Amino acid sequence: GTSTPSTRPETTTTDNYAFAFDIDGVLIRGGRPIPEAIEAMRVLNGQNEYGLKVPYIFLTNGGGKTEQERCVQLSRQLELEISPAQFICGHTPMKEMAEKYKTVLVVGGEGEKCRDVAEGYGFKDVVTPGDIMKDNERTTPFRKLTDQESQHSRKRNFGEIEIEAIFVFADSRHWGDDQQIIIDLLTSKYGRLGTTSESYDEGPPIYFSHNDIIWSAEHEHTRLGMGALRTSLEAIYESITGKKLVSTVFGKPQLGTFQFATRLLQQWRKDTFGINKPPETVYFVGDTPESDIRGTNEYNESSLSENDWYSILVRTGVFREGTEPRFTPRATVDNVLDAVKHGMKREM
Ligand code: G3P
Ligand code: MG
Repeated sequence: GTSTPSTRPETTTTDNYAFAFDIDGVLIRGGRPIPEAIEAMRVLNGQNEYGLKVPYIFLTNGGGKTEQERCVQLSRQLELEISPAQFICGHTPMKEMAEKYKTVLVVGGEGEKCRDVAEGYGFKDVVTPGDIMKDNERTTPFRKLTDQESQHSRKRNFGEIEIEAIFVFADSRHWGDDQQIIIDLLTSKYGRLGTTSESYDEGPPIYFSHNDIIWSAEHEHTRLGMGALRTSLEAIYESITGKKLVSTVFGKPQLGTFQFATRLLQQWRKDTFGINKPPETVYFVGDTPESDIRGTNEYNESSLSENDWYSILVRTGVFREGTEPRFTPRATVDNVLDAVKHGMKREM
């Protein structure tokens, strides 16, 4: 048979550099793609003047669904195939804690979805605020579970259960009630509901999947995030106990999260493109100076990174022109398409 010669140049994949993307405020806002995002992804997939493909991963502080579910949604929004093997969300690194505790409280997200996420990570016994409200409806004086919520909650006898740790996986949908339950546990004896510690140092540890005070959603102004919940919990805890609340935070800008991303990127480049060496440069595109730019810069300056992590700030999210970002990016551009063009041009 005859083959028609293609007019398009063969695409090759670069092993020199890669991209990593924040999601909210860079690619998505309020459930809809930012207009330039679809084109930006096409450019990375070879639709560019150099006929070059560039590997990339996603690193969001958001969460509340399984990585699989989130990738299906993101693939639809950005009109391309995205694999969980190139995706990290706020709670992904928490899976490394699954062996450490037996019974844990998981807070945040839509309905009981985060219970599924935690069980998928291998957590053995996952309790939700709904389970606690179902066992004792006096827990939250101003809210009763709806029939549907009640159906998805598990009736247990919390008088006999020790909750060993608290994990805030995703944004709380009921701040007041979730905070009440978290405070009950933090001030308890060894995570046993109904008890109160006299010394206030017997409560379970608390972990947050990130610490973003604000984030970029559909509203024209930024919205309160999990970091705001954490800040208010600290204030409540201190006014009740007179002690400072000690907590552990995952997500950006934590260096551990960037190390996690480095390992994922290495695996992704190897499995998908057969690239066996680390990239010289990783371009990180973000909208939040405190998380994205700070994390990228500090990781880059630390002894942990073996390549150049180059921070690019976009103007489509948390950062607004006319303000001074608290952490200085290597470049500031209008949107994610300009960020991709900036990095590719720099490499040519
Ligand atoms: O809740 C999500 C938000 O705090 C940040 O998401 O994608 O901008 O890291 P992202
Ligand atoms: Mg963002």
